[in-house]
Amino acid sequence: MAARQPERFSLDQAFYRDPDIYRRDIEEIFLKTWLYAGHQSEIPNVGDWFLFEFDEESVIIVRSKENEINALLNVCRHRGSRVCVESSGCSKRLTCRYHGWTYDLQGRLKAAAQMGEGFDKSDIGLKRINVGILDGMIYVNFAEEPAPFSLIQEGLAECLAPYDLANAKVAHRASYPILSNWKLALENYTECYHCAPAHPEYSRGHGLALPDSRTEELCRQVMSRAGVCGLSDKTVNHFYLEAPAFGADYAFDRYPLIHDHLTGSKDGQPLAPLLGSIREYDGGATDLQVGPVTFALLYCDHVVIYRFTPLTKDTADCDISWLVRGDAEEGKDYDKEKLTWLWDVTTHADKMIIERNQQGVNSRYYVPGPLSEMEDYTWKFLSWYLDLMQNERKEAAP
Ligand code: FES
Ligand SMILES: [Fe+2]
Repeated sequence: MAARQPERFSLDQAFYRDPDIYRRDIEEIFLKTWLYAGHQSEIPNVGDWFLFEFDEESVIIVRSKENEINALLNVCRHRGSRVCVESSGCSKRLTCRYHGWTYDLQGRLKAAAQMGEGFDKSDIGLKRINVGILDGMIYVNFAEEPAPFSLIQEGLAECLAPYDLANAKVAHRASYPILSNWKLALENYTECYHCAPAHPEYSRGHGLALPDSRTEELCRQVMSRAGVCGLSDKTVNHFYLEAPAFGADYAFDRYPLIHDHLTGSKDGQPLAPLLGSIREYDGGATDLQVGPVTFALLYCDHVVIYRFTPLTKDTADCDISWLVRGDAEEGKDYDKEKLTWLWDVTTHADKMIIERNQQGVNSRYYVPGPLSEMEDYTWKFLSWYLDLMQNERKEAAP
């Protein structure tokens, strides 16, 4: 089916509905790539944890006594119960409430009653998956041999340095469940063909909906202010580059905001203290992508992180975190309503259009349709996806 898909068309209905294809999506993408779990500021103290969940998986992201961040699979090694059941908490040890098996913050089994002689606790512990920390952002990867996270850290080090995200904090985090297959949510996020009709609020300050939004002049204006703002050349010279292939380890692209907007706010005016070492607004915003399903928008005074994950084959989660300077105080330095307004209103609109998209795709009369010039990156996503499915098929063939 992947081989039969025409170039630059939306996918055949089965890719959005078939349970076997969905299982393959989970195995080939979500269990093999780097996924954003959260920010280290959400677990500042030893024993703090939160859950990262998608499909049928649940991972405990916990800060250990050694001050390391661990990702432990939330499956008890006795008879498999979930160990942590709230969405977050703080505990010295992790105790399964079914029969009381107790693990330390590294996942090692520390107590299990009446298991008889010969039972060796050191043989058994919560399974751990890989963790990578990018400037405070916690990524996890289920693969036994994941792509090295150091490539992402090294590749983005200079670009991210001015924002000092390791010392930022999550001002707000929200989940927007969408009644659609995860791919329709991602297709929507990767194009701005819909921005002008669907997002009047976004289109006021962000020119991606307009064909002339990246004129050399506008780009030069932002670049010329970069030094003053504490952004190095390297952090802004991606303007003229082609968007990278989808599926690259990361992508980083700073572009000009329009109509004198300084940041992603209702009126274009500042929302929070400038991040890190940035000294002035440069009039730009950055699109950052790490792995296939995590995106971020970096403004001078806040960052918005987006992550798309499947909950079932027919439902997806769009998880959004708003980050500000770590020392910024709510009510004094920023107003949470104002900070979250733009991407809340935009995501509600996206949720609605994506759900209508799924409803139409479900019809027996749906056929794949041609993509526009403004859907290049969506096609890059889809062709990456189709290649992945075909490679897998070839590898699986005898
Ligand atoms: S399943 Fe966890 S203690 Fe029994
Ligand atoms: Fe949108």
